[in-house]
Amino acid sequence: MINQKKIAGEKACEWIKDGMVVGLGTGSTVYYTIEKLGEMVQKGLNITGVATSIETEQQARTLGIPLKSLNDVTKIDVTIDGADEINQAFQGIKGGGGALLREKMVAQASSKNIWVVGEEKLVTELGKFPLPLEVIPFGWKQIKRMLENDGVETTLRKQSSGEIYETNNGNYILDIINQTFTNPEAWHEKLAGIPGVLEHGLFLHYVDIIICGKASGEIEIIKK
Ligand code: 5RP
Repeated sequence: MINQKKIAGEKACEWIKDGMVVGLGTGSTVYYTIEKLGEMVQKGLNITGVATSIETEQQARTLGIPLKSLNDVTKIDVTIDGADEINQAFQGIKGGGGALLREKMVAQASSKNIWVVGEEKLVTELGKFPLPLEVIPFGWKQIKRMLENDGVETTLRKQSSGEIYETNNGNYILDIINQTFTNPEAWHEKLAGIPGVLEHGLFLHYVDIIICGKASGEIEIIKK
């Protein structure tokens, strides 16, 4: 059986050249990108990575990929990341892995953003996948109540142990469920304006290239 995540993840390494500063996303698809970049570094490729999560940082360190923090670079040439859903307008939902805030900051700082996905992530309408909000623990119930009064249903993300899930930044995640995002721009306006919501998982203007691994083994490159 074809591993769609692996073929898409590895393909993205073709965009990485010597001397680049590379944003390293988070998740099970970009995992394969990072493994491959590790091999390339072992063979002499000279890059600097900027990790979007502690998990990615640990993987990259183990593979010997040199890293800098976002604070210590002035530009990022290319960022490779996964996604949870993407529509035909190149708008997506991210944050299934909880790294949306750091991912969006790194995407914003990048000259080019490449998303690596399996074909099931390509959708006509966003919303089958829950939309995460990173919220500060202080008053998170207030944010939940406020959204619910507005007809927006959310669940507080928990770990499999039942403990509240905490992001790398020490915040909570409220996942918006049972909602179709037919007008993502309007949702961006609505969610970005809520005090205590640090970031939402709608990525509307970032991705330049989608690398899609298909069950057939084919890899589709979709450029904006
Ligand atoms: C993490 C993310 C991931 O990129 C997204 O959830 C996709 O992950 P995967 O490649 O494991 O399906 O946004 O915050």
